[in-house]
Amino acid sequence: MARLEIEKLTTDYGPVRAVDGVTLAVDEGSITTVLGANGAGKTSLLRTISGLERASDGRVRLDGEDILGVPVEDIVRRGLAHVPEGRGVIAELSTEENLRLGGLWRGAEAATLGEIYELFPPLRERRGQLAASLSGGERQMLSIGRALMARPRVLLLDEPSLGLAPLVSAQIMQLISKLAAESELAVLLVEQNARSALSIAHRGVVLNLGRVVADDAAQTLSADEGLRKAYLGF
Ligand SMILES: Nc1ncnc2c1ncn2[C@@H]1O[C@H](COP(=O)(O)OP(=O)(O)O)[C@@H](O)[C@H]1O
Ligand SMILES: [Mg+2]
Repeated sequence: MARLEIEKLTTDYGPVRAVDGVTLAVDEGSITTVLGANGAGKTSLLRTISGLERASDGRVRLDGEDILGVPVEDIVRRGLAHVPEGRGVIAELSTEENLRLGGLWRGAEAATLGEIYELFPPLRERRGQLAASLSGGERQMLSIGRALMARPRVLLLDEPSLGLAPLVSAQIMQLISKLAAESELAVLLVEQNARSALSIAHRGVVLNLGRVVADDAAQTLSADEGLRKAYLGF
């Protein structure tokens, strides 16, 4: 049994079907990347998995347990954390205050600030500073660190490299890779930068108009020139 199992998941915004029967699975300690053009349904897929949008159909299972329809805070308690598009840190709060928010719903089971600072040393140096004053890369670390405060078993990441310089983006990718390997997290990584996502992912799923058009080992997708030209832009 995979840690996260998505089966025929469908999401509608009125007449717009954003996610159309998506099936995929993510094992613990592994990274599955979801690729596709702007508007393909990647964000809607993540938001539906974490309970922020209502599914019209399908199933989501975390370690075999159905989580569709469960309130968002209970989904967090059960071990699923979501790093939203645009990072979602609160600019008017300090680094440390943002981190504490991430542990709130987990109470005594939350990770400690020390654990997060060990993973992201730059955040320790900036712990008293407002999030607004952080660089793009530091903000992305904060956003991931905040999600990790809930000690998740599944981590959903929505375009963590968006707007970052290539070198910083590469550092974030390496961090995600290390996290999955060392903490046995199941990571579902949404990216527009297909090349860099496929370089750290084990599997890749390509979406087009809400549907899965490819689902294979990351290496196989990277080697498929037709698919790269049609959907991956490299
Ligand atoms: N809140 C919303 N209301 C209506 N349509 C939406 C909403 N959010 C997204 N959509 C539409 O759903 C489709 C998928 O969008 P999205 O999930 O944001 O794709 P991606 O993250 O791959 O760019 C697009 O056609 C988009 O316009
Ligand atoms: Mg998106």
